[in-house]
Amino acid sequence: MGVQISPSLLSADFARLADAAAAVPHADWLHVDVMDNHFVPNLTLGLPVVEAMLKATQIPLDCHLMIEDPDRWAPAYAEVGVGSVTFHVEAARAPIRLARELRSLGTRAGMALKPATPVDPYEDLLPELDMLLVMTVEPGFGGQKFLDVCLPKVRRARELIARHGLELWLQVDGGVSAETIERCAEAGADVFVAGSAVFGADDPDRMVEELRRLAESAGPSSNAGLTS
Ligand code: DX5
Ligand code: ZN
Repeated sequence: MGVQISPSLLSADFARLADAAAAVPHADWLHVDVMDNHFVPNLTLGLPVVEAMLKATQIPLDCHLMIEDPDRWAPAYAEVGVGSVTFHVEAARAPIRLARELRSLGTRAGMALKPATPVDPYEDLLPELDMLLVMTVEPGFGGQKFLDVCLPKVRRARELIARHGLELWLQVDGGVSAETIERCAEAGADVFVAGSAVFGADDPDRMVEELRRLAESAGPSSNAGLTS
């Protein structure tokens, strides 16, 4: 799998989410930020809105759960049929068990790391996952400045993925734009979340294609991290 772009609906008009989905037909995913006002200091949407979005678009949903107790709440997102569910390891009590449960329900299992959470302690857990999300801002809000300090972790995660020969996707989220996406791609990311960069653009779908082009030309592509 090559470069994938996942526009974040957090930067769309919440009263017109179906229109936002229709505005990015070239998106590979729609990134849905679920926030509970506990894990992060912001409150967005939950399962009923996700279910409504499933009916409103053909684009698969990439649900990023910024919530406490994902062990309890995340499986329901898999059960309604979203394509990918990402929980935060800082909030999970039993991340391996949760990842296995999500996969058994037929969804892709993702695990997210906040900027201060290192990847190395989770090396042995990576085979249980379909995607690792390295946050490039503190989770909670769209439109924040990209944290370059997170790039060595992206690079390190790509090394670990290559070392173990995994098919794991490596996602970045936060401050990803035409100015920053090449650095992320060069460090080894292959799935790119972009909220304000896409929905703040005059032509959101054109921005999706522009971000894809920039990431593809900056590559290393998915598995080439250690060999290029
Ligand atoms: C932040 C969210 C992001 C957010 C990104 O906590 O996880 O998905 O929408 O927004 P931008 O791309 O504007 O930084
Ligand atoms: Zn997100």
